[in-house]
Amino acid sequence: MFTIVEPITADLDVVNSIIHRELHSRVPLVNQIADYIIKSGGKRIRPILLLLTANACGYRGTYHHLLAAVIELIHTAGLLHDDVVDESSLRRGRQTTNALFGNADSVLVGDFVYSRAFQMMASTGNVRVMQIVADTTNMIAEGEVLQSASMHNQDLTEERYYQVVHAKTSKLFETSAELGAIIAGASEKEIRACAEYGHSLGTAFQLVDDMLDYSGSTSDLGKNVGDDLREGKLTLPLIYLLQHGTPQQTQLVRIAVENGDASNFDEILTAITKCGALDYTRHHAALAAQRATSAITALANNQFKDSLLKLSAFVVDRNH
Ligand code: IPE
Ligand code: IPE
Ligand code: MG
Ligand code: MG
Repeated sequence: MFTIVEPITADLDVVNSIIHRELHSRVPLVNQIADYIIKSGGKRIRPILLLLTANACGYRGTYHHLLAAVIELIHTAGLLHDDVVDESSLRRGRQTTNALFGNADSVLVGDFVYSRAFQMMASTGNVRVMQIVADTTNMIAEGEVLQSASMHNQDLTEERYYQVVHAKTSKLFETSAELGAIIAGASEKEIRACAEYGHSLGTAFQLVDDMLDYSGSTSDLGKNVGDDLREGKLTLPLIYLLQHGTPQQTQLVRIAVENGDASNFDEILTAITKCGALDYTRHHAALAAQRATSAITALANNQFKDSLLKLSAFVVDRNH
């Protein structure tokens, strides 16, 4: 990750200071919670993406800092809500906001963070940018609802799974990369190339996230493994196992998904490893990352494009 962000280290510092400044409120509890979630860190992968595409397309200005902060705030607001919905207790290596401050305050501060992001965006007056970000935020919400409606559904198809992934994750990655190109004044062809890069990168990222929810380690990830099973959330590894596992294995999964019960997690992890479900998921993540890489072939070669290429490899190989 260090070599990926090296060309934009100074930009990223500015983005972080904007985030800190903008999360200020007259209400102390907002400050306390916002401070807590922001100080927990996070990989900042979406602002990194925006900064890299803006620079790769030759941007010379400071507007990308504000937009990168907007994107990170939308992501953070989404996590505040997501952890309530998923009843998660660990995020970024610390107790989740909901675990520490309760569901109500997490949801409300999530609303504060969303609306602050929109205030910041409105201050720019760029209607094209506002339209894209508004559409994306709306689509993320749709994705989360679609996922919630698919909970405990053992007949979930790969097609429906990808529909959720595209809405809840790929779209914000797409927008991050697209906005970088737009503000840089890139051609429509380059803008589409960056958008496609971001979309495919986001898909790869979520597939690996779903794999690591089984095969990762809690200390590397900073969030609990096994959360998806505990919730009865079907993701690609389980969908594959249900199609290719032995009758005993599929029965084990069916009961776990129906009851949202992770007590057989170790057995299920063994089963998804043995039947090839983890390899299958990683393979499809690698294919998505390859699509990302080929989407930007025509972009001019520079150190920022190099970082974009490294980023697609990182997303597949990551363990955190
Ligand atoms: C978590 O995103 C949500 C998913 C899309 C899987 P990140 O893994 O980017 O979260 P942080 O910001 O680094 O904590
Ligand atoms: C990501 O989904 C949430 C959003 C993209 C809004 P997950 O629920 O899989 O993310 P984690 O695993 O909690 O980070
Ligand atoms: Mg979650
Ligand atoms: Mg997850």
